[in-house]
Amino acid sequence: MSEEPDDVVRRERFSGGPARGFLSSLAADERIFRADIQVDRAHVVMLAEQGIINESEAGEILAALKGVEEAGHAALPDGEDVHAAIETAVIDRIGDVGGKMHTARSRNDEVATCLRHRLRADIVELAEAVLAFREVLAEVAETHVDTVMPGFTHLQPAQPTTVAHYLLSYESALARDTERLFAAFDRTNRSPLGAAAFAGTTFDVDRERTAALLGFESVIENAMDAASARDFLTETTAATATLATTLSGLAEDLILFANKGYVDLDDDYASTSSIMPQKKNPDTLELVRASAGDTAAGLNGLLTTLKGLPRAYNRDLQRAHDHAFDAVDAVTDATEVAAGAVATADWNADALAAAAGEGFSTATGVADLLAAGGLPFRTAHEIVARAAEESETADLLAAIEAAAAETLDESLDTHVERDALAAALDPAESVASRDSHGGPAPEAVEAALDRAAGDAAEAETALDARRQALADAEVRLATEVDGYV
Ligand code: ARG
Repeated sequence: MSEEPDDVVRRERFSGGPARGFLSSLAADERIFRADIQVDRAHVVMLAEQGIINESEAGEILAALKGVEEAGHAALPDGEDVHAAIETAVIDRIGDVGGKMHTARSRNDEVATCLRHRLRADIVELAEAVLAFREVLAEVAETHVDTVMPGFTHLQPAQPTTVAHYLLSYESALARDTERLFAAFDRTNRSPLGAAAFAGTTFDVDRERTAALLGFESVIENAMDAASARDFLTETTAATATLATTLSGLAEDLILFANKGYVDLDDDYASTSSIMPQKKNPDTLELVRASAGDTAAGLNGLLTTLKGLPRAYNRDLQRAHDHAFDAVDAVTDATEVAAGAVATADWNADALAAAAGEGFSTATGVADLLAAGGLPFRTAHEIVARAAEESETADLLAAIEAAAAETLDESLDTHVERDALAAALDPAESVASRDSHGGPAPEAVEAALDRAAGDAAEAETALDARRQALADAEVRLATEVDGYV
């Protein structure tokens, strides 16, 4: 037998023995300490309102909970988990009446509620970081609508674009990542409390009331589902892993661009070498890139833990939620760091402009021009491809003329004016000509910036509404509790 005092769950029977530490989640549960106190409060208020316990009992328990909250997680007695330890602490403070707190519930609905309660706040924080990053991307883009840069496919120079167009490509990806986080939030924001172990309870509980007191949007009806479900964890982790994947692409680009001298990271976002004094390494972005690996691994760990679990509660679930919390933490940090790196980076317009013209990157625009002049696009493509073969050695304009003479019966002049051809070969003109919806031409990018601003404002409002609902619930619950103590 252990020397430690037993918690309320393990008194008498099953001391835990040598497996005591193995079983315990108390340390990791620090994350849901405050959530558990709130869940306890809502439950106790509801029990009193339903006449399941009386008001003075509720008052005593709620006062004890306040003391336990103030003493903090570190002051909790030993226990199998935070739920047992808090209950033990309440009983230690007020005696047997504290034992009424756990009436009409189980740790199964309790932990599921705590996890959802805490994760909601974490998702809000992550979404906040993503919105701030979107704002940074739009702000920097606004100053680079005319900064021409090479665009790549297969990492080969492909077509010129602009820094604004490039940055907005990530802004719009992050807009979808934001939507996924909101969707995950909304399905997390449903209350399992009152499901008890999985099979409901004989007590006349009011599940809608505890849900409302805790700011949940609704109740998960089926008690077995409510106690067992962890898809809110997978959904949040998947949204987070997807976001991390977006960030990793951006990080990779910036690492490459820094390597080529297209972009200069601020010293705050770079590291030096311990041996090579000249080095400036993009370590922060490398760690952003790595967070996608950790998060994907977390999602995999989570799904693997959950796969094939039978109904209803199984202790495996105790190992599930850390994957989600770790992912959200890592990616919140990565989002903030990536935003800082982008906000403070300098784009080297001259190096970008020079690189934008390399490798006949305007070839597609030239082919488009010939096709617009009446040639079938395939013929135009063939002429420009021939010219591209020569473009290393010959003047491009001359190479196009020579290729056209070999391919066409009539003169190139019947299809295109020389001035227009010369313009199409210029990277900036090439960009300006691609003014289709979503293209890189300055007008198209200005329109995209307007849309991005509108979308961001909408997302900000949606986030505020969710954050406010959580804050309102805190106030409501505190007011109810004050009525008893
Ligand atoms: N610490 C447990 C967890 O995180 C709480 C639920 C324990 N329930 C049980 N039936 N053993 O999952």
